[in-house]
Amino acid sequence: MASTQQPVAAGRTGDELRRLADDHYIWPLISKQQLAEEGAMIFANGDGVTLTDVDGKSYIDVTSSWTRASSLGYGNERIARAVYDQLVRLHYAGTVAHVVDTTIELAAKLADVAPGRLDTTFFVSGSGSEANEAAFKLARFYHQARGIKPRAYKVIARRNGYHGGAGGAQAANDWLHTRQPSEPAVPPGVSHIPAPVSYRAPFGLEVEQWNRLAADYLEQQILHEGPELVAAFIAEPVMQANGAQPAPDGYFRRVREICDKYDVLLIADEVITGFGRTGEWFCMEHWGVEPDIMTMAKAMTAGYIALGGVMTRREIWDAMPGFAHVHTFNGHPAAAAAALATIDIKQREGLIPRAKETGAYLLESLRRLEELPIVGQTRGLGMWVAVDLTSDKATKAGFEDDTVRAIAIRARELGVIVGVNGTAIEMAPALNISREDLDTAVATLERATREVARERNLL
Ligand SMILES: Cc1ncc(COP(=O)(O)O)c(C=O)c1O
Repeated sequence: MASTQQPVAAGRTGDELRRLADDHYIWPLISKQQLAEEGAMIFANGDGVTLTDVDGKSYIDVTSSWTRASSLGYGNERIARAVYDQLVRLHYAGTVAHVVDTTIELAAKLADVAPGRLDTTFFVSGSGSEANEAAFKLARFYHQARGIKPRAYKVIARRNGYHGGAGGAQAANDWLHTRQPSEPAVPPGVSHIPAPVSYRAPFGLEVEQWNRLAADYLEQQILHEGPELVAAFIAEPVMQANGAQPAPDGYFRRVREICDKYDVLLIADEVITGFGRTGEWFCMEHWGVEPDIMTMAKAMTAGYIALGGVMTRREIWDAMPGFAHVHTFNGHPAAAAAALATIDIKQREGLIPRAKETGAYLLESLRRLEELPIVGQTRGLGMWVAVDLTSDKATKAGFEDDTVRAIAIRARELGVIVGVNGTAIEMAPALNISREDLDTAVATLERATREVARERNLL
């Protein structure tokens, strides 16, 4: 693949930068062993969906920067200019009772694109973790202020869920093992129930059977924890664990019913799925279920600058005397300007319906991989899809060795960056990716899968 631009990194070579990283940089999440085996990726330029590394090699990135945040690709001048213009006009004017007009504009714009009655936003300074933390606080303060369940503080989350890297959000985690090393320094009152699955159901149950139990389990857990003590239930509409597992039809309707019955607030963590990733502005719209609280970050600004937020409806905010919570850079004006530009681009270019269509095309293109003996299932929703790999189609066992990673590394060597998530390879491209680039990505993934399978005698 041709390099579109020359890397510029203060005149340093790739080797020098890797040495600097070795000496001065702490890598998040990835283990040192994995880093040594796979090599560090340090990038210098981006253009469209192409990333160029510090050695000048270019890749098609179908992960939206791995985190699925860069939903409009790289080098978007309109968003960059919006940030620049805001910084020059008024970069920041304080917090608490001070706010810049752009941040208020964004709150109003979010009310336009959010589903149902969600019309009121509390901004955090940048991360999904902060958004979830704020959501838990909001739920607790609401119950205290309203007085019907004033002692409600507990949060129910799901096994294999992921909600962030700090405090209460981290306490709600199960996926990625970021919670366990910090225990017991995480807040009490968070418990976990089983989550629905797309492919592998425990105890030899059918997927549908398990998924019904997973929804009903919420009621059991609320009763077990004490309904008067349970403030909220949090869930990702599409679980990231083991690669893009959308909630089954009916799951969130049942969850909504249970939450309503016990006066438990439903928090939809739309940190990955928000802003069009799944072909609707917000994923819960697929099932016509309105959460009480919705958290967002990542693609809110298409990844150009950090921003996060929590939305709720007027009635919940009205029940509270205020919200005793703050970050210095809540809803930073530059980030708000980026979010407004991002939403405007998505609206003008019709990128949300396009994500639905392109996502269906992508999933259909991936279906042919299911012929391979090591591909158990291809699935997804909109522009977030997964190829779940198995060492045995009869038992659906995941690979215990490094086969999944080996396929991703091979795809990368062939010029396409795909994600790895537990047992699955993931794709979550920018919503405006061309079909040509998607075709290249799928063909490359197929070639990588076949090559690795052949080399390991798995075909
Ligand atoms: C569903 C979900 N919620 C919350 C978070 C935490 O967001 P952040 O990494 O911005 O703190 C993530 C991050 O991957 C996420 O995927």
